[in-house]
Amino acid sequence: IRRGFSSSAVRNVVIKQVTIIGGGQMGAGIAQVAASTGHSVTLVDTSDDILKKSIKTIEGSLKRVVKKKFADKPEAGEEFIQKVLKNVSTSTDVGSAVQGSDLVLEAIVENLKIKQDLFSRLDKLAPAHTIFASNTSSLPISDISSATNRLDRFGGLHFFNPVPMMKLVEDTPGFIVNRLFVPYLYEAIRLYERGHGSKEDIDIAMKLGVGYPMGPFELSDYIGLDTIKFIMDGWREMDPDNTLFAPSELMDKLVAEGKLGKKTGEGFYKYK
Ligand code: 3HC
Repeated sequence: IRRGFSSSAVRNVVIKQVTIIGGGQMGAGIAQVAASTGHSVTLVDTSDDILKKSIKTIEGSLKRVVKKKFADKPEAGEEFIQKVLKNVSTSTDVGSAVQGSDLVLEAIVENLKIKQDLFSRLDKLAPAHTIFASNTSSLPISDISSATNRLDRFGGLHFFNPVPMMKLVEDTPGFIVNRLFVPYLYEAIRLYERGHGSKEDIDIAMKLGVGYPMGPFELSDYIGLDTIKFIMDGWREMDPDNTLFAPSELMDKLVAEGKLGKKTGEGFYKYK
């Protein structure tokens, strides 16, 4: 984390207490990784039901991690799971959750105004030393941080889904992965819309031809079509003439119908 911040204000900060705002796929995954590496984590969302689901996600993922990591020592594996879970608490009260926090990491909806409103509130609630970071996948950090008075303690920490498995965190300016990756997903959808291949064929082609673990339609469903559309819509607003950012009728239709991918049971494909 220190490497990503150039300001002397944060150069020697030791991160012990982490608050994560947003208990969705990304927030839960980040909470898991932070707790697994010994941090004390508070996961915040708007309802206890959402947070219960987040903890279930973390438990499920930890079981998968342990199955591999402690294959010959199931008892040590169980101990590890309990130790990690003990490091995670949940809260629906953002004000109390940020007290004592060294790092507040936001992983909520990809919407500039909503992120700015959140950080503006947090700026008044959090201690002066607290570092703020956003897991935004497409928005300029300077636009988000402009809502606060802690520009020297504000950064981007962009994780990848599934967080416990993906080794990259982007903390440099710009979004290298998504700038290449999201237009690629849209181009795959456009290929399909033009009738150049079935979803299945395009997925198989990318898996067998380039060795990707998932094809573009499988991966879109896995990430969430709403997330991908939010990213593209935001970029199109900033650069309307860029043909790489052109919309897709099919994507717009699926999102409007609430078919957001695996998490809703249907996206490009159907899930049980
Ligand atoms: N937690 C813990 N372990 C997990 C896991 C999770 N959520 N998901 C998968 N695993 C583990 C499994 O337990 C399994 O372990 P094993 O090798 O011991 O059996 C291993 O990963 C492989 O899983 P599976 O056999 O179930 O399936 P795959 O081999 O297909 O792997 C995958 C699953 C890791 C998700 C792989 O398909 C993959 O890497 N897919 C591409 C993901 C990707 O591209 N992510 C980036 C998206 S872009 C993004 O997030 C940015 C955002 O801003 C939009």
